Amino acid sequence: SLQTTLGDHSFTNVFMNASGVHCMTAAELDEVAASPAGTLVTKTGTLEPRTGNPEPRFAVLELGTINSMGLPNKGIDYYLDYAAAFQARHPGQTMFLSVAGMKPADFPLLAEKIQASGFTGLTEFNLSCPNVPGKPQIAYDFETTQEILTAIFKGFKKAAGVKLPPYFDLAQFDQMAALLNQYPLTFINSINSLGNGLWIDPATDTAAIRPKGGFGGIGGQYAKPIALANVRAFRQRLRADIGIIGTGGVTSGRDAYDLILCGANLVSLGSILATEGISAFTRLTAELEAEMAKQGYATPAAFRGQLKTL
Ligand code: DHB
Repeated sequence: SLQTTLGDHSFTNVFMNASGVHCMTAAELDEVAASPAGTLVTKTGTLEPRTGNPEPRFAVLELGTINSMGLPNKGIDYYLDYAAAFQARHPGQTMFLSVAGMKPADFPLLAEKIQASGFTGLTEFNLSCPNVPGKPQIAYDFETTQEILTAIFKGFKKAAGVKLPPYFDLAQFDQMAALLNQYPLTFINSINSLGNGLWIDPATDTAAIRPKGGFGGIGGQYAKPIALANVRAFRQRLRADIGIIGTGGVTSGRDAYDLILCGANLVSLGSILATEGISAFTRLTAELEAEMAKQGYATPAAFRGQLKTL
């Protein structure tokens, strides 16, 4: 069984989509809900709908993907309406709402809106979008992150987590974990894409995507070792009651197994879901179950966090 938990919530499968992939519309979200995935998350919703950056803004690379979508989304109200319908249709199941502000002051407004709604799922506050021109990734600025979390949790009493960018220095893990441990978080999601990579088409000497001179978030196999390190480093530093959604570079059952060894409670699929489609959930579920059987584990909890080191 791939049964797992996050906070008080239980899921029949560790796999879910990563926000941004297969989750813009109700039809896409319904396809994830109907797949073997254990849960689903919406595209990051903002206070107002957005059209995002000019196309082409997504490309498939040798070992992953690049994107600079620019937060196109249908707006928080659309995703709250979807969640209300989902809850009515799937009693006992939990979904995630991803949200982000275009400026810090938007975060408490989003939180108030969700707090006042009938939403019973988990809210993922996205502090790591790399693609809006002129807007730095919030969670690389520890002071702004602290201000935003303080403003959110003044009035927010529902289960919540944060989507983090990849970090590359142990002092960053120390500082961010110490900061996050001050708040009543249920989870973190680590990692968002590797921000501001660049891909060149050798046939034309041209960048692969249009926005920001070709710079965009990198996902897929390029991200795997960074994702493993981030999940591991946060598991070693966060309060035990803060769960982890592991995201980054999963293309096989073994990749998911490795994220769980590092401490992941749930595993989300970004690039592989974008390139392979919804059947990735069926394939990866079978591959992870086979890997667990080979290693002699009946549940993810049996080996979660059990990485061995030399
Ligand atoms: C977008 C990309 C992200 O990595 C993210 O966290 C949010 C939004 C985007 O470009 O739409």
